[in-house]
Amino acid sequence: MNTIIKKTFLSEKVVRLEIESPLVAKSCKAGHFVIVRACATGERIPLTIADADVEKGVITLIIQQVGISTAKLTALNVGDEVYDLVGPLGKATHIEKFGTVLACGGGVGTAPLLPIVKALKAAGNRVISVIAAKNKDLIILEDEILQNSDEVVIMTDDGSYGEKGLVTEGMKKVIEREKIDFAVTIGPAIMMKFASALTKEHNIPTVASLNAIMVDGTGMCGACRVTVGGKTRFTCIDGPEFDAHQIDYDELMMRLAGYN
Ligand code: NAD
Ligand code: FES
Repeated sequence: MNTIIKKTFLSEKVVRLEIESPLVAKSCKAGHFVIVRACATGERIPLTIADADVEKGVITLIIQQVGISTAKLTALNVGDEVYDLVGPLGKATHIEKFGTVLACGGGVGTAPLLPIVKALKAAGNRVISVIAAKNKDLIILEDEILQNSDEVVIMTDDGSYGEKGLVTEGMKKVIEREKIDFAVTIGPAIMMKFASALTKEHNIPTVASLNAIMVDGTGMCGACRVTVGGKTRFTCIDGPEFDAHQIDYDELMMRLAGYN
């Protein structure tokens, strides 16, 4: 159960695992996530399902090695089993034909963006994706995003690939060029804060997918609470996506920093 059937390094510290999980593959939709543990004593790690193949019964998870638990998970190899895997969790992304959609992924946030880009494209939207990273080596899933977008803008902080600048600079160029009907932003909290400030300024309805700390993933523990529109919401059951213009990003960043 939960056997790893393929492992690929997308960058030095970012690993793609394809895992046998037929029931999750069959029932998941864009935006859903799973909670995994690499071993019995491992922390519970929430990961958005980056892709699912119903016929093969396989899901794809993309993991950035940032601490002990993610290191244990990324150290697993083909043939190993993930100790436990619960899901699909959370609310699926609301998909409809909006018109022209700006899909913005920063760093590893491009992984959860991929299924949303696919679903938005399949629903008949014109999808313009802006993917950004610190440098060329950290740009992930470029081909997959390209296959499902009408246009892809690549931004790197150091200018080693695509255009030099932050994700927001790429977004700004597109927004100033044409009418955008809807936007999605996924990445570090600081990026989502500035990306949503930009789309708010241009009155573009936007959702952001939050990376709050999670424990149970079922609305019981409160670890994932965030403030949206002045109300407390639980990322695991009310999210992970929320109206980007209503999120208290400073509180989210403070809570994330508390666990560093
Ligand atoms: P990173 O720090 O390399 O940033 C990625 C891009 O975000 C940058 O290249 C830049 O374009 C943009 N960015 C960063 N700061 C910005 C700012 N002040 N204004 C505008 N744009 C800015 O990203 P990383 O190291 O790949 O990401 C790690 C973080 O992403 C972790 O905190 C992780 O928890 C989070 N993450 C979030 C999600 C999610 O669902 N929201 C998913 C995966 C990872
Ligand atoms: Fe416990 Fe959301 S993770 S309430």
